[in-house]
Amino acid sequence: MSETKLPQSSSSSPVCAWNEWDPLEEVIVGTCTGAVVPPWHISLAGAMPSESEAFFKEHGGTPFPQERIDAANRNLAELTSLLESEGVKVRRPKPVEQALPYAAPDWSSPSGVYNAMPRDLMLVIGDEIIETPGAWRSRYFEFKSFRDLLKEYFHAGARWTAAPRPELTDELFVQDYTPPAPGEPMRYVLTEFEPVFDAADFVRCGSDLFCHRSNVTNAAGIEWLRRHLGSEFRIHEIEVEDTMPMHIDSTFMPIAPGKVVINPDRVKKVPDALRHWDILVPPRPTIPDSHPLYMSSKWITMNVLMLDENRVVVEENEEPLIHAFKEWGFTPVPCPFRDFNSFGGSFHCATLDVRRRGTLQSYV
Ligand code: ALA
Repeated sequence: MSETKLPQSSSSSPVCAWNEWDPLEEVIVGTCTGAVVPPWHISLAGAMPSESEAFFKEHGGTPFPQERIDAANRNLAELTSLLESEGVKVRRPKPVEQALPYAAPDWSSPSGVYNAMPRDLMLVIGDEIIETPGAWRSRYFEFKSFRDLLKEYFHAGARWTAAPRPELTDELFVQDYTPPAPGEPMRYVLTEFEPVFDAADFVRCGSDLFCHRSNVTNAAGIEWLRRHLGSEFRIHEIEVEDTMPMHIDSTFMPIAPGKVVINPDRVKKVPDALRHWDILVPPRPTIPDSHPLYMSSKWITMNVLMLDENRVVVEENEEPLIHAFKEWGFTPVPCPFRDFNSFGGSFHCATLDVRRRGTLQSYV
């Protein structure tokens, strides 16, 4: 592993993060206030647990039960206190009413979804913050809740970019899509009609980024980002075995220089670029079957947030995982988060690391 220093962008920017582990200085933490059940659309068929389809079809576009929202918000408040007690500056989005219909010339959506997951649609690379072209119609206006913060960062010197706004017309979606059965060749709900990608399908390791193609990120989306970032960066697409791919951070999670957590059910081949890295295989999640997970698998447990290259925020009930992190030489920082997990994410999804103290380096 070489740690060659590469040319730097402006270090005075309020936005600066090159990887997933440099010391965290400022972070956006989402909110579940106003969260709405995603309205059903074929784009969800390949990304949401199949058991949730009936729930989304019946309740999509209506608010999640208030007691679930309150419980998840309590988890977010705990996370906020924890981060602040570690000296991290925490910013929160403006809650925005999501239960309102809206329309584009070619389609309409009965509602938005939420402002809970700042990781999903905003990608910080160095001093640039990129709004990504998401594939869900119901998330088209999700940036609204983050705009005050984005404008503030822009005025303070950050580079603020938006990828081409997708049209999201019917041509983007395979209308009769069904996910493949385990063992069948992969097929995706998205066509290559236009570039789309979620930020959460990418993780950063300095000048190398890792991503996977998913049911919210198509090949054109990956290519758009590759050309946008230019020759200073390499984007590695990893092969995964996941019939419902959406967001890489429960599948492949680099957590320190030379250390990556991989999902043993999904990653059978580690990219050649990481042949000198330690591959950390986490224990199976312990989330009970009775705990509602409307929008993710139980592997949401490996969706952790690094405070630096040693301290890892991990769900307080996941004792085998906490133990594994200790064995691997990390310092786990437990935080209650299961009620938030019901909304489809964990610590990595619920946050956007706006500033980490560090420089652009090569780790592979
Ligand atoms: N889509 C990811 C999972 O369910 C978050 O594991």
